Amino acid sequence: MAGKLIIGNWKMNTRAQSAQSLVDALLEQPACDQPWVGVAAPAVYLAALGARLQGRSIRLAAQDVSAFASDGAYTGEISAAMLQDIGCAYVLVGHSERRQYFAENNPQLLAKMNNALAAGIVPVLCVGETLEQREQGDYLEVIYQQLAVLAEINAGEYLIAYEPVWAIGTGKVATLEQIAEIHSAIKTWCLQNAKPSASIRVLYGGSVKAENAESILMTDNVDGALVGGASLDAGSFRMICQAA
Ligand code: G3P
Repeated sequence: MAGKLIIGNWKMNTRAQSAQSLVDALLEQPACDQPWVGVAAPAVYLAALGARLQGRSIRLAAQDVSAFASDGAYTGEISAAMLQDIGCAYVLVGHSERRQYFAENNPQLLAKMNNALAAGIVPVLCVGETLEQREQGDYLEVIYQQLAVLAEINAGEYLIAYEPVWAIGTGKVATLEQIAEIHSAIKTWCLQNAKPSASIRVLYGGSVKAENAESILMTDNVDGALVGGASLDAGSFRMICQAA
């Protein structure tokens, strides 16, 4: 199923040597060194990995981007232009862990999306409900509220990642029926409300593993996967890329 986008989100893991070794292992795997595969490494290692990936097919991704558009007195921030400068093709925006720990809100995420688009980087807007919101039954309203930034962004190519928070890092993957329901609802919402994007592609994330990747990727309206833990193991990530 070439064309299903697989992005590995390393989160706050690796060191310089292990990051390099992981990328080197992926580059030895034809299934991984493909333009539909990306790795989102910690920001401190992106420049070195970008240099390593020059001339190769696998894409570099960042895990976040500043909401500030221009250079200036924003201590600690990393701009979209800097990410583009070192070769990032994608950037995650609004990952549930950043919403949780840093209270990222829609105005901030809208700015991040627009900054990425202006720099020629494809933003991946991450949405998903908590277990409490799912159990309460208002999970669709939560997701639509998170998608609302897409009604205001400047036109351009973006991706969406549906990551039910209760499936992240838990081993409790969403059922294929749950995935199909939400991905369909997201695409319908986007067609009715979002600024047109080149194509509305929705990735699934949340305990994607080698053993469940194929069935998830074959599910209607699933255009790829955002992989956390399994992306830190070259063998597991290779098997997920092979399923794409
Ligand atoms: O961004 C992907 C991540 O949140 C999913 O994590 O470990 O459940 O694959 P994991």
